[in-house]
Amino acid sequence: MTRLSIATLGTSRLDEVLALQQTVVDSLDAPELFNAESRAYLEDLILHSGMILGAMVGDRLVAYRGAKLILGGNENLGKDIGLPRRELPSVAHFDMIAVHPEFRRKGIAHRLNLQARGYMRREGKRHVLATVSPENTPSIRMFLKLGMRPAALVRKYSGRERYIMHAALEAGARDSPAPG
Ligand SMILES: CC(C)(COP(=O)(O)OP(=O)(O)OC[C@H]1O[C@@H](n2cnc3c(N)ncnc32)[C@H](O)[C@@H]1OP(=O)(O)O)[C@@H](O)C(=O)NCCC(=O)NCCS
Repeated sequence: MTRLSIATLGTSRLDEVLALQQTVVDSLDAPELFNAESRAYLEDLILHSGMILGAMVGDRLVAYRGAKLILGGNENLGKDIGLPRRELPSVAHFDMIAVHPEFRRKGIAHRLNLQARGYMRREGKRHVLATVSPENTPSIRMFLKLGMRPAALVRKYSGRERYIMHAALEAGARDSPAPG
């Protein structure tokens, strides 16, 4: 594989993110395991509430990972796992992740996760949380590899069952350096 590069995506790359999202949705045996996001949601993530990391081979976007730090209303997953109220401002979410089917099992998701986690730590977050379908074995194993553990099983996204995965982010622990 040509060398992989990882960078924070700006809104100029939203068309590519949406195209890759569609490719990934089309590749799934069970599309309900994956929550497709709208352009407006992704734009807000880039501009206001977090970031999207992209993995590129040459100039081709082959994977992306969303990380959300500003959590509105009832979306803070810390509430679902009973975190103390004082901890809620220090929660970050792993948002959507997708790797092009031709580029899976090469460690790309793991690299994106490590960089996103580093970003969360640098922003002073102490907890990372994510939702995943109990039937999405690749994704569950991906989170377990990161040291995350299931902390609750709830119904989200129009009544779909989701594990809430959690890990504490120890201060001073090291992750990958920030992407360019
Ligand atoms: C889940 C997904 C992002 C993983 O991407 P990836 O780049 O292939 O993952 P990695 O190569 O970094 O693998 C990291 C770990 O995840 C686990 N994993 C990934 N794919 C797996 C599979 N098909 N079966 C079992 N475990 C798997 C493994 O533990 C792996 O570590 P290992 O290689 O040391 O065993 C990818 O399969 C995908 O895009 N799926 C469709 C979209 C989706 O389901 N997104 C998540 C919704 S929450």
